[in-house]
Amino acid sequence: MPKHFLSIKELSKEAILEILNIAMAFQQGYLRDTLQRKWVANLFFEPSTRTRCSFEMAAKQLGAQVLSLDINYSSIQKGEIVFDTAKTLEAMGCHFLVVRHVLEGMSQQIAEVLQTASVINAGDGQNEHPTQAILDMLTIQQYKPCFSELCVAIVGDILHSRVARSNILALQTLEVKNIRIIAPLALLPLYLHELKVQVFENLYEGLVGVDVIIVLRVQKERMHHEGLIDMSTFSQSYCVTEKALAVAKPDAIVMHPGPVNRGIEITSAVVDGPQSVILRQVTNGVAARMAIFKFLMELSGLSAANA
Ligand code: NCD
Repeated sequence: MPKHFLSIKELSKEAILEILNIAMAFQQGYLRDTLQRKWVANLFFEPSTRTRCSFEMAAKQLGAQVLSLDINYSSIQKGEIVFDTAKTLEAMGCHFLVVRHVLEGMSQQIAEVLQTASVINAGDGQNEHPTQAILDMLTIQQYKPCFSELCVAIVGDILHSRVARSNILALQTLEVKNIRIIAPLALLPLYLHELKVQVFENLYEGLVGVDVIIVLRVQKERMHHEGLIDMSTFSQSYCVTEKALAVAKPDAIVMHPGPVNRGIEITSAVVDGPQSVILRQVTNGVAARMAIFKFLMELSGLSAANA
């Protein structure tokens, strides 16, 4: 049976730490060529720059052949359903399908119809973005190695963010005790009630003494209710500025999964400032995805002898 990578919920603390160790080993040059003679298909039904390019780079660095389907020119435009596209790629011999889709649960549903190929969830609607959470944990670990002592704040549009959910789950699995959510009431999801997080409506109160700040974009394309939020009002209260950052710990790091809307959720001065690790996240995205491929290969008993 193929092993899939669909949700952070499926991973134990040990599994996450193992993936982070594999990623570090790749960055230090200890591992290579895990995917020789393997085929990886990128199936992105939503726009993407970082996730799609880093999956492609990760797979190629591991020796795989990569197909990046242009959905606008694929048989989806002729009415083919996504499950048939996935089964077609599997029948051709693809070993991994990396899937991003606007619908929650789509990666899981595709995984259920496949026999031999592994599915990696590269973002399913507002549900999860587990590979982003892995690269974010890798980044945090490189700057702040002791997870349990950290205070991490996630700021912005939590309601529409799959990154927020996957990161909260990963931080909890890694036993981070102090997780703060900073957002206006209109952008808070109901599921927060089930999770042990502290909610702040005031940016300055929420940022006091934090070690890590994860800033999220306002995801207008996922807002179905007109007028849910007024961007300039949001910005006045929640934009992470140098002044707001000053209430966090002096060595706090600032993260953002991208794409950044400069001047809305975060100022350019903070994005480009000394505490920003946003480009390190991008760098880590490649190693994190290489590690996820290797982790799945090991789980499926397919590890190459020279890896
Ligand atoms: C995020 C996504 O697509 O969920 N971006 C990413 O993968 N780097 C966040 C976002 O779109 O704001």
